[in-house]
Amino acid sequence: MNTTLLKEINSRDWNQLFSTDLQTESTQALENGGIILFPQLAFTLLPNENKFLSPSCLDKHSKNISFNALTDVLQGAKCSAREHHELKAMMSRFMQSAQSLVHKIFPFYAAALQIGRTSFRPIEVAGRNTSWRKDDTRLHVDAFPATPNQGRRILRVFTNINPDGQDRFWRVGEPFLQVAKRFLPNIKRPMAGKSAFLKMFRLTKSYRTEYDHLMLSIHNQMKRDMDYQNNVAQEKIYFAPHTTWIVQTDHVSHAAMAGQHLLEQTFYLPVNAMLNPALSPLRILEKLCGRTLAAR
Ligand code: SIN
Ligand code: FE
Repeated sequence: MNTTLLKEINSRDWNQLFSTDLQTESTQALENGGIILFPQLAFTLLPNENKFLSPSCLDKHSKNISFNALTDVLQGAKCSAREHHELKAMMSRFMQSAQSLVHKIFPFYAAALQIGRTSFRPIEVAGRNTSWRKDDTRLHVDAFPATPNQGRRILRVFTNINPDGQDRFWRVGEPFLQVAKRFLPNIKRPMAGKSAFLKMFRLTKSYRTEYDHLMLSIHNQMKRDMDYQNNVAQEKIYFAPHTTWIVQTDHVSHAAMAGQHLLEQTFYLPVNAMLNPALSPLRILEKLCGRTLAAR
């Protein structure tokens, strides 16, 4: 394992206070494409929540259960009203823990950070049958067809809650600048009027900016290219059960190869709230393209 990628912090408490030096170092490590790993930070399930460590609570059309804390809506679960309520409580507690951790380790972001979805992933990742575009065992940077983020950073908190000692096994690829330089020359400009069409017919939740178009194209080209998948410089990382890690998945090229039972909390961060906005995929792509790619 290449330890330059991982910054380890020995905290056991989601509400722990950190020194200003550690906060600054961690934020810089994150912005430089690092993974902030808390090897001793576990999310403890309540006795009534252990029954959810099984794919049986999942709707057969979903690959995970998702919770929107802003609307209090749970999606992807197929269970009784009582279990529905319990799942919401578990995911809401995880959201609050993740939010507390992120505020304490990255206080510079706190005022600008926006809450996204909470997700619970009770299915084994290895051997899952899916289309190449949705296949997260292929290296990719995160970009989603229906949810343009218009340049905002995607910051995710992951906790492995596997009860059987099973690691979450990831591959991590080359830095974003190299990814961008490699794939950008093959990407065509979006068709005139396409983004307005997608928005008008609610195929996207907001306007797909040129930034979103490029990120989605890079995501797809990475996943489609098996030669790239096999041969690009990469390393394996095994996240043990009861550990927590934070990554900006819009610039860290990643692939989830194996593992079952994960909790994940997404946050969005406007680029200007970063300590160094020049490290964002938005500013990197704008520099390479020589033009603005999302409204400022
Ligand atoms: C991903 O974001 O591509 C998947 C991460 C995971 O489920 O471990
Ligand atoms: Fe991903």
